[in-house]
Amino acid sequence: MSQTNQPDPEIRRKVVEQDLANVLHPLVQHKALEEKQMVVTGGQGSTIVDADGTTYLDAMAGLWCVNIGYGRTELAQVAAEQMQQIAYYPHTGMNLPAAQLAEQLNTLMGGGYHSYFVNSGSEANEAGFKIARQYVKHEYPGEFRFKTISRYYAYHGTTLATLAAGGMGDRKGKFEPYAGEFVHVPAPTCYRCPLGLEYPSCKVACAQAIENSILGEGPQSVAEVIVEPIMSGVGIAVPPDEYLPMVEAICRRYDVLLHVDEVINGFGRTGKMFGHQHWGISPDIMAVAKGIVSAYLPIAATVVKNHVFESFLGEVADARQVMQVNTYGGHPVAAAVAVRNIEIMLEEELPQRAATMGAYLMDGLKATLFKHAICGDVRGKGLLIGIELVTDRESKTQLEGGLIAGVVEFCKANGVIVGRSGGGLRHSNTIALSPPLVITRSECDTLIEVLDRALADAVAKRAGRG
Ligand SMILES: Cc1ncc(COP(=O)(O)O)c(C=O)c1O
Repeated sequence: MSQTNQPDPEIRRKVVEQDLANVLHPLVQHKALEEKQMVVTGGQGSTIVDADGTTYLDAMAGLWCVNIGYGRTELAQVAAEQMQQIAYYPHTGMNLPAAQLAEQLNTLMGGGYHSYFVNSGSEANEAGFKIARQYVKHEYPGEFRFKTISRYYAYHGTTLATLAAGGMGDRKGKFEPYAGEFVHVPAPTCYRCPLGLEYPSCKVACAQAIENSILGEGPQSVAEVIVEPIMSGVGIAVPPDEYLPMVEAICRRYDVLLHVDEVINGFGRTGKMFGHQHWGISPDIMAVAKGIVSAYLPIAATVVKNHVFESFLGEVADARQVMQVNTYGGHPVAAAVAVRNIEIMLEEELPQRAATMGAYLMDGLKATLFKHAICGDVRGKGLLIGIELVTDRESKTQLEGGLIAGVVEFCKANGVIVGRSGGGLRHSNTIALSPPLVITRSECDTLIEVLDRALADAVAKRAGRG
């Protein structure tokens, strides 16, 4: 391990006491924390270590983000060197690591892009909305194009605008109302088609719904469409192959910008550097975060195609510059670490590895888990995989919430961290897997074996109940 990971009950006790007395945690009920807190003190590859000495295979890579794996001490050196050189200066100026990172991103996109740097996926999407709005103000003077079309059950972040763009009722509800500039359409969640159709006879009606929505709203009022190529949070919804090319064609037909959220899909997760590259589409605006730096420091970017970038150029008096700033945008230390993170990804061919290891994991999961009646669907791409749990495959009724939580708990008790989809009443029954891209074959075998036992346990509990 890269740190001293000797169990130390005294340190653990102190951290828990200090934390519970002072910290307000995201998303978890503090009562649950009191009962089963994790105090993660170390990590290596795909494994994390708790202060009590317990190790876990982290099949979620933190929050879908530690793509190159834990314990890369080389990145600490990069950060230290950059801090000694220059730790910070605002990005209204220039710095070497941010320029290098923007060049890397441009190269990975095949050229023709510029990057605007922020600190999180939410900010990257938020900046995307604002860049889209400012762009259309420049390009369509006199028109009032401001709406974003997005999908129900999408997750695009936690700020008010990204929540409004998202479509997860349970995440949004407590902060309502929102302004009405985000228009929602059905998502390509084929296992539970919101239109009650079946692929391929559906003719991908969910993509068509975007055109209907643009026409219904009035094309002169729509600035952009936002899509996450494979919808992660809702249970790894892989769209039919026609879907994204159809969405792109619709955007082009009405001069609407295509905003692609690669916050989870990006940086090798799906077996290509970016998720949208599976379908050959070309974003006008792309949000990247998480894997850009494998979460070693906070940095994210809104990457825009040059026709968008050029709209922000002009004489000083034209005032076409991007009208926003983030104090930490383009932070040289975070950027230097991101640059090295991407180099490591390329040197170790981690996107290709995600494709092959993902296929191995997917095959193993399918071969093993379908023997349980509660395994409804196993789907995904690369190392982004969902296992949808149902009472039976015929009815596709969602498995009871308590049993799904029980699967997650069973895995943890057996040394494996897995995730669970959001999506409130309709889609919260999928076990999510998004391990570090360095996961080994034998770790994949462990994951399959523990999930096999977890599903058997849920089946037994269900039978006991019945
Ligand atoms: C698809 C997607 N977009 C945006 C975000 C927001 O990123 P962040 O939590 O870094 O703000 C997330 C977070 O999980 C996400 O899954």
